[in-house]
Amino acid sequence: MRTKITDIATYLPEKVVTNDDLSKNLDTSHEWIYTRTGIESRHISSEDEVTSTLAIEATRKLMQQSSIEPMDLDAIIVSTTTGDTRFPSCACKVQGAIGACRAFAFDVNAACAGFIYALAVADSMMKSMKLRKVLLIASETITKFVDWTDRSTCVLFGDGAGAMLLEATENGDTGIIATKLYANGEDEKYNSILAHNGEQNGNRGYITMAGRTVFKYAIDYMAMSMKEILDENNMSMDDIDWIIPHQANRRILESMCKMRDFPLDKVIITTQEHANTSSASIPLALRDALDKGKVKQGDTLLFTALGAGLTWGSAIVKI
Ligand code: UT7
Repeated sequence: MRTKITDIATYLPEKVVTNDDLSKNLDTSHEWIYTRTGIESRHISSEDEVTSTLAIEATRKLMQQSSIEPMDLDAIIVSTTTGDTRFPSCACKVQGAIGACRAFAFDVNAACAGFIYALAVADSMMKSMKLRKVLLIASETITKFVDWTDRSTCVLFGDGAGAMLLEATENGDTGIIATKLYANGEDEKYNSILAHNGEQNGNRGYITMAGRTVFKYAIDYMAMSMKEILDENNMSMDDIDWIIPHQANRRILESMCKMRDFPLDKVIITTQEHANTSSASIPLALRDALDKGKVKQGDTLLFTALGAGLTWGSAIVKI
């Protein structure tokens, strides 16, 4: 049995904020943000929108475009690091909103690598528990956790959600081929270079980041995990149609390709319109690439991400 991604829908908040908009109230410029990150604009959730709102919107779209009924779902798994509340989980809120009362539901938190973690968890559970249909969502309102006076972080992030239908298939030629996960939280330095600290911001705390250090880890660790997953599965970059990485910064992706001799023309990049949406960035990029006719049914995709923890990993999926 294989786990196949059979459909995907996304939701982006209506409000779009450009670099020029940010530079009106912050000592920054479109030039600085664009040349350092590749970001031109980002979607920002309204005060009324929380992470579950985005997740539910993406799910409703998925339900409309696929033939799936809420009662068909065996489980709902949400990747998020920005849940509305410590508990209940965002997944339970989605389950209640759509009336998927047969489904069990829980959240996965692995920061920006959360989608790959959640995909691996879903795949394993589908196999071990013989589940047939699982709703996998990555939803984030990370802009609610930035200090809007800190120009080194606030310009980097955006909000969004992607909802995927995972179905069990007996067709061994398609679906999730492999997943590989890593974490290193042992060393204090890993916990301090990218974190969410303090009790300000209504007890939510703010994101703090040592940008240059994270930049280097992102290149090294994403490249290392891609190489290891390909080697372990007797595959090479020639077997991959598209790399869909976490969309933190265009320069990270360009540097990684240059340093490791990876093909940049095989990399899907949506940083310009979405910015860094944490764990939602890969599903958002996949939907965008499908809509633009880049990714096609039958393509083999390599997902990779790195996030706070540090957490990182890769997945190979034939869609
Ligand atoms: O999703 C989780 C993973 N996160 C990431 O992968 C992010 C990784 N890091 C990065 O993307 C980059 O390090 C940043 C985009 C965050 C920063 O780029 P950088 O080239 O590493 O810049 P820097 O932090 O070294 O700052 C260079 C200069 C500093 O000024 P001085 O000290 O040289 O005078 C900063 O104060 O740029 C200044 N600066 C800004 N200037 C205008 C920092 N932020 C801004 C800003 N606008 N928004």
